[in-house]
Amino acid sequence: MFYLCCFFNTNNVFFNQNAAYANIMFDALLKKYPFSPRSLHGKAKALDVLAEEKQSNELLLQSLGYYLRALKAPEVPDQLFVTIAERYINRARFIGQYKKAIAVHWQLIERFPANATYLNNLAVTYLTINSVEAARSVLRKVLLKWPDDGFALVHYGFILKTTDNDLANSVNYMTRGLQTKCLGCIDGRFYFHLGDALARLNRNDEAIKLYEEGVKEKVFMSKFQRSLYNMERLTAKPWWEPKDLPSYQNLFSALKKNYLQIKQEGLAALNDKGFFQDEAENLKDTGTWKQLELFARGQKFPKNCAKTPVTCGIIQKYTEASGCRRGQSKFSVMHPGTHVWPHCGPTNCRLRIHLGLKVPPETAIRVAEETRSWVESDIIIFDDSFEHEVWHNGSDFRLVLIVDVWHPDLTPREREILSSI
Ligand code: LMR
Ligand code: MN
Repeated sequence: MFYLCCFFNTNNVFFNQNAAYANIMFDALLKKYPFSPRSLHGKAKALDVLAEEKQSNELLLQSLGYYLRALKAPEVPDQLFVTIAERYINRARFIGQYKKAIAVHWQLIERFPANATYLNNLAVTYLTINSVEAARSVLRKVLLKWPDDGFALVHYGFILKTTDNDLANSVNYMTRGLQTKCLGCIDGRFYFHLGDALARLNRNDEAIKLYEEGVKEKVFMSKFQRSLYNMERLTAKPWWEPKDLPSYQNLFSALKKNYLQIKQEGLAALNDKGFFQDEAENLKDTGTWKQLELFARGQKFPKNCAKTPVTCGIIQKYTEASGCRRGQSKFSVMHPGTHVWPHCGPTNCRLRIHLGLKVPPETAIRVAEETRSWVESDIIIFDDSFEHEVWHNGSDFRLVLIVDVWHPDLTPREREILSSI
């Protein structure tokens, strides 16, 4: 028993190479000591390693069963209990068994009531499955008992911002949380939403200071480029010229050459109710801004494309656009009196083309520090991971076609394997 215990605890590499052997050995041990927490844990771990090696959910489920039995064994030492419970939660979440994970979160919380971490971790699991109210109530519990807990503060502030749009209070909570510099606080999402809340409250100086701090903490590429899903090394500049993108020239010509038909399809869809949808990301300050999605995450919207076949046909033909799984293609209509808050897209892996279709005066877009407008039948290209802001102070609606393309510095292999956004 001593040997196996120490071989297991101190030599994980050896364990990994011999998971199949360990699996059998622990069976033998369990015959002799069926309730030994270390043997149950050893068996669970062997199955866990095998499950990973063989990519087998079946083995992982068996492993979870043993982890659970280990947790229920009599007299499990505290440290071992934590190790097992945390691995169990990690694996249960991995295969989407959140209910099971939550039950073990509660076991940790009950066993260690003086430790805020276990409540905080439960809140994160709730947030992962979008159970925002459950997360909120857990975080409230933490803050009642530990009002200065940085992790709970930033997460609670995050919920106030993203669910309630309660800007002033979200700023208070997130600011206090970030000041603690806690592990888990230094996360781009909190800098992103705190800065956004500050900017919307007209506290721009504070927002800029925070963004600069975010750059120092390496959560942002620069104070203007604040996307959170990034590849390093990609050329980063707010505005691009068509000549900067030699491999996309055919797409540009096709868009410009077919501008009139694209415009007619967009206008016809506008006249039919139910095609254009309100922008859904809470980016708008005032006005009316709607979109008709044609492609997103590399997938076509068949119903919308049936309405605008020429436009979709062009996009489909150019895989830098139709295959851009980190972008979209869509018509975008903006009505007079619209202001879109300064915001950044999620990723630096795409560039955004706008084809001007109907462009009244007094419409403008700022990207980083330079403001431009659209020209009918022509394109503008920008990197929407940089902060951008849009105004419509004119008197008739503006219509553009937006086509996202892969960032030109991405290799064919990267375009194949990057996850969709
Ligand atoms: C944006 O990407 O937020 C805007 O450029 C969209 C638009 O319709 O102008
Ligand atoms: Mn945008």
